[in-house]
Amino acid sequence: MPEGGGTLKVAALADLHVREDSATSYRDLFAEISKAADVLVIAGDLTDLGKPQEAEVLAADLQACSIPVVAVLGNHDHESGAVEQICEILRKAGVHLLEGQPKEIAGVGFVGVKGFIGGFGRHMLGSFGEPAIKTMVAESVEEAMRLENAMRQVSAKRSVVVLHYSPILETVAGEPLEILPFLGSSRLAETIDRFHVSAVVHGHAHRGTYEGKTPAGAPVYNVAMQVEKPTGRPYALLEI
Ligand SMILES: [Fe+2]
Ligand SMILES: [Fe+2]
Repeated sequence: MPEGGGTLKVAALADLHVREDSATSYRDLFAEISKAADVLVIAGDLTDLGKPQEAEVLAADLQACSIPVVAVLGNHDHESGAVEQICEILRKAGVHLLEGQPKEIAGVGFVGVKGFIGGFGRHMLGSFGEPAIKTMVAESVEEAMRLENAMRQVSAKRSVVVLHYSPILETVAGEPLEILPFLGSSRLAETIDRFHVSAVVHGHAHRGTYEGKTPAGAPVYNVAMQVEKPTGRPYALLEI
């Protein structure tokens, strides 16, 4: 693995949706990635229903991965209210969960949060009206602030931002128009653009588009497994 100066090869994927009765094993994929990259990034929806048993299945598959793994959780990982247990299982399997805590690997800072919904640009949901709407917007703002606090802690010159929800509209294009505001929030991009970042990866939009840019020009990649990528594989390969 390169220290400091060289390029770090980062494999990134999201939306594994591992189930208890999963017929597909990720062992072969993780073994392949370990040969192709220096670090594996998983951008949320690791489990399908947020069950600890699903995290155990993934943890067993991750034994086939011989490179460092960093990850954030997705909305599906929250479904069963067992986030603490899932985090514990994944940490035991050697996964560095970012969730507001940056991790530096070979001179590259990895920083991430799950993010939240809210929409994009001037059509973002505003904090107005019913308390339920204000709570929703507050959650979106809170995630952007968690990201900002984490980004302030990164001292490395090169950094990768890992999100589950999208920070831009471009990489969710392809999804039904009706659900676009539920796929991410520009508040995340506003935060990202206050820093210099090498790349941003996210998932969640299974039918989205691979590549885009934040308004200030940071490259954004939708690495959901279901999205077609230049590698022709379920993961993206980025040189950082
Ligand atoms: Fe997903
Ligand atoms: Fe998701």
